[in-house]
Amino acid sequence: MTEQTIRLTIEGTTATITVDRPKALNALNTATLEQLEEALAAVAQKRELRGLIVTGAGEKAFVAGADIAEMMNLNLEQSLAFAARGHRVFDALERLHCPTLAAVNGFALGGGCELALACDLIYASETAKFGLPEVSLGIIPGFGGTQRLTRLVGRARAKELIFTGDMVDAPRAKAIGLALDVVPATQLLAHCQAVLGRIAQKGPLAVARAKRVIAQGADLPLPAANQLEREAFADLFQSADRREGMTAFLEKRPAAFHGT
Ligand code: CAA
Repeated sequence: MTEQTIRLTIEGTTATITVDRPKALNALNTATLEQLEEALAAVAQKRELRGLIVTGAGEKAFVAGADIAEMMNLNLEQSLAFAARGHRVFDALERLHCPTLAAVNGFALGGGCELALACDLIYASETAKFGLPEVSLGIIPGFGGTQRLTRLVGRARAKELIFTGDMVDAPRAKAIGLALDVVPATQLLAHCQAVLGRIAQKGPLAVARAKRVIAQGADLPLPAANQLEREAFADLFQSADRREGMTAFLEKRPAAFHGT
């Protein structure tokens, strides 16, 4: 029987996915990626969810990368398939309707750093360490790291991290814009839950649409990206949530959004 290495829990409107493969510091092998894909599909179907937290089990690692033992004997075709699987799963994570937070509680290396990069927001514990050390293994990042890190921290910082393979600690990750905040390990999940709690009070359609417009616009020239914003802005005017949000403001009461 395949070992269960992904745990999906749902509490209220928040889902949490925990990568739980302690013997390999939560490294991602094919079975773990498959289970992660299934968990993400389950989250995608639950439209009532308002946020997802991705984290690693234990105190040492978020995810220490793709599984090196499994990659050891991959041939050309298999290495392409392995990268394609990682990309498919991380693309699915990136496209989820709700905000996604990486709670980085330890080593986030290689595929682990790339997993965090596929989330909307990255928060780090004081013990977190980030890096893309693939060049130490004679390869390059294969689950989106060369592209997503570059888009997040800029070309030069991304090149520095990818060319050297250096690990950076949490304060440094924050300083270069990779992690948003650094909190004590014991408070990391509560911090992420609090962020999602604040988001959950807002209009769900508006948050989801903002996420989509930011993602779609990021790769477009500014005029085309701004056109997307205008269309989304106007679309939201048709929603009951928009009427409720503005009415609540004018009536000086909290809004009760229903996602319609
Ligand atoms: N794959 C497979 N196993 C891994 C692993 C990985 N990425 N990372 C750690 N492990 C295993 C170790 O082999 C070890 O197993 P054994 O106890 O059976 O020997 C166990 O986890 C504990 O690890 P260490 O003994 O090495 O722990 P440490 O505290 O001495 O070092 C570490 C921790 C610095 C994270 C070190 O484990 C390490 O460097 N890991 C590899 C990190 C890495 O190179 N990640 C990138 C992988 S390539 C990739 O991800 C490609 C891609 O983009 C898709």
